[in-house]
Amino acid sequence: MDKVSLLKQKAEAAMLGGGEKRIESQHKKGKLTARERLQLLLDEGSFEEIGMLVTHRSRDFGMEKEVYMGDGVVTGYGTVNGRLVYVFSQDFTVFGGSLSETHAEKICKIMDLAMQNGAPVIGLNDSGGARIQEGVVSLGGYADIFYRNVKASGVIPQISAIMGPCAGGAVYSPAITDFIMMVEHTSYMFVTGPNVVKTVTHENVTSEELGGAHTHASKSGVTHFALANEVECIERIKQLLSYMPQNCEEDAPMYAYEAGDEKRTKLNGVVPDNPNQPYDIKEVIEEVVDADSFLEVHKDYAENIVVGFARIAGRSIGVVANQPASLAGVLDINSSKKGARFVRFCDAFNIPLLVLVDVPGFLPGTDQEWNGIIINGAKLLYALSEATVPKVTVITRKAYGGAYDVMNSKHIGADLNYAWPSAEIAVMGAKGAAEIIFKKDISEAQDPAAKWKEKEMEYMDKFANPYGAAARGFIDEVIMPEDTRAKLIKAFKMLEHKVAVMPKRKHGNIPL
Ligand code: HXC
Repeated sequence: MDKVSLLKQKAEAAMLGGGEKRIESQHKKGKLTARERLQLLLDEGSFEEIGMLVTHRSRDFGMEKEVYMGDGVVTGYGTVNGRLVYVFSQDFTVFGGSLSETHAEKICKIMDLAMQNGAPVIGLNDSGGARIQEGVVSLGGYADIFYRNVKASGVIPQISAIMGPCAGGAVYSPAITDFIMMVEHTSYMFVTGPNVVKTVTHENVTSEELGGAHTHASKSGVTHFALANEVECIERIKQLLSYMPQNCEEDAPMYAYEAGDEKRTKLNGVVPDNPNQPYDIKEVIEEVVDADSFLEVHKDYAENIVVGFARIAGRSIGVVANQPASLAGVLDINSSKKGARFVRFCDAFNIPLLVLVDVPGFLPGTDQEWNGIIINGAKLLYALSEATVPKVTVITRKAYGGAYDVMNSKHIGADLNYAWPSAEIAVMGAKGAAEIIFKKDISEAQDPAAKWKEKEMEYMDKFANPYGAAARGFIDEVIMPEDTRAKLIKAFKMLEHKVAVMPKRKHGNIPL
């Protein structure tokens, strides 16, 4: 065979992965192939493949007779909306996308390039785990990837899409990356599968129940997004990238924005007169950020806190907001972890933070205490305290107790703190406060209920407003809700060159 034909033959073989039959079976499962996925993800014609001709080195179990170009993973670089990204896409048609020594080397090569050149890594995972025929070299390959995931953490954005099986220790590479997305019904993640679970704990559970997209989106919080199909999943990756810079040294792209009437009168009516009545904080978010720019992260997990990306006058921001419509917006273990992780991503990648506060405090109870609300609540406090990006707070209603401190108070380094006239900044709610500090007056009164009400009103008049905090400068300005957007546009512009230096140290010790 002449030299050119040989090259052609190898390239053609690479395009076919594990062969027509296996491609057909992949399609039958409702899944795309590794190359089809990359075609959807990357700008047309931008993909440059690296390592197409790599083959495995295994000589056991007849493996020398089964050799596929690329060895089960397509790797390289390309652009998404004109911006450089590095990609790997596992090919389930080759040994079930399982990870061999060479498969791992290919992934490591593009991760090293991504770090060196400061661009995100996107992994499209579809794999039966360690290549069973290879043994320890495959385990070593995983560890080589984990090590790079950790080194790259906070340096370049890392996004994992789970588009098939992801089991055993293999789950730990996605777990270390910044964002995970899963495709409903065709992907799952677990450390031990249903068979092992049945043997060890006698539980009967399907793969879907144990580690499907819905489970991880709502129960464990492992995945940030659950998408209906692969096309939506890939679209979500592109959308997510649009809020991020290429690396920790850069800023996220600014979007074109034309200034207009920034008054949002609808906001004046969002907070109900009754302080115990819920409302949807997303209505506030939608009004203050640029139209249709809010991308919620972790939507179905710990719904009592809302986190997500948005833009204000074209500028990328991260939003963290208590959600009065879920558990009255209380802080608990899961919401604190969710908030903290998001804050740390934003801080690592220079994305300013907007914190909307309506929080009655931390959730009481044995469940919370025994599972460590102390250590977990501290995560959010720590994350917001250590964040040096521009940080702006708006208190819409309650800011009670320790949660006032935690939710980006002036005391932990917020740059600008606004409150609406409806804000109540106090150690606790007026009813409970009156009961404690006026216990004697109430019990000795002729009409204890009336006395309690009277003392509650007294406490409310004194503290259930933003003016005590404003008088001390803990609140910079009490603003009309309708002016919030205009204030935020100016605030983030004013803070765009913020320089904040933390003490020299190896790294902090966030309570894990
Ligand atoms: C080699 C594998 C493989 C593996 C699948 N295949 N997994 N080859 N190593 N790990 C091959 C199959 O032999 C088959 O080859 C093809 O991939 C497709 O597999 P099927 O079983 O036909 O597909 P499906 O029915 O969809 O089931 C997919 C699956 C199943 C659920 C992933 O294959 C499976 O359970 N595989 C083993 C998973 C596993 O135990 N992996 C090791 C985990 S331990 P042909 O030639 O027929 O196409 C681990 C440790 C990591 O990963 C540690 C990191 C620290």
